Amino acid sequence: MSDIITMNGVTKTYENGNIKAVNGVDITIKEGDFVSIIGPSGSGKSTLLNMIGALDKPDYGHIKVANQDLLEGQNLHKFRAQKIGFIFQLHNLIPTLTVRENVEIPMYSQKINSKNMTKRSLELLDYMGLKNRTDNNITKLSGGERQRVAIARALINKPSIILADEPTGSLDSENSDKVLNLLKKLHKEQDVTLIIVTHDNEVANMAERIIKVKDGKIEE
Ligand SMILES: Nc1ncnc2c1ncn2[C@@H]1O[C@H](COP(=O)(O)OP(=O)(O)OP(=O)(O)O)[C@@H](O)[C@H]1O
Ligand SMILES: [Mg+2]
Repeated sequence: MSDIITMNGVTKTYENGNIKAVNGVDITIKEGDFVSIIGPSGSGKSTLLNMIGALDKPDYGHIKVANQDLLEGQNLHKFRAQKIGFIFQLHNLIPTLTVRENVEIPMYSQKINSKNMTKRSLELLDYMGLKNRTDNNITKLSGGERQRVAIARALINKPSIILADEPTGSLDSENSDKVLNLLKKLHKEQDVTLIIVTHDNEVANMAERIIKVKDGKIEE
């Protein structure tokens, strides 16, 4: 398999360089890999993930994701919408919309007709075990259910890479297992590259490869 992510000498600082969130990192990740990024709080995991997903730009270094060089000054909106599915710790769903509407948000920037949009979102919600909740308001759902909606939303545009930042951080162990099993199943059945950030060893050990981060550097 070819490399889908390469980072060379990537550095990201805050507070005028006083905080080195990510410090000279080199990483390559192969297409279809399931990778976990583990490390203590403040070690730079989220910063790393956000740069892979082009939500944040490095101060120095070079990042290439899915054949695209992530360069300063580019509009990377389209790249993100087409290639990346994000899952956040607090799922970032919009409370005033229904389950289905939330899942369809990333599709609006794509040119997809609404019939195909609905078909795809209903398929995904079925896959996530939420078929009977599609028209409910988000606020009616449990934490675990919301996180499954967030996964469906991450998948809606068939991204090649899923980036999950502490996807089970706000869940109890039962819901956490459910979400993790779904992510595992997803990686197996649909050709995606999956990267999970966690500080939980058990979660990290599910992956095929573990990248350890400490003080903004890779230990592995
Ligand atoms: N916007 C920001 N402004 C200033 N400092 C920041 C900012 N974002 C992150 N940092 C700092 O950069 C370092 C790395 O943060 P990051 O969020 O990447 O850590 P993390 O490994 O994801 O931690 P956690 O496990 O707590 O989520 C920390 O010291 C943090 O305080
Ligand atoms: Mg974090």
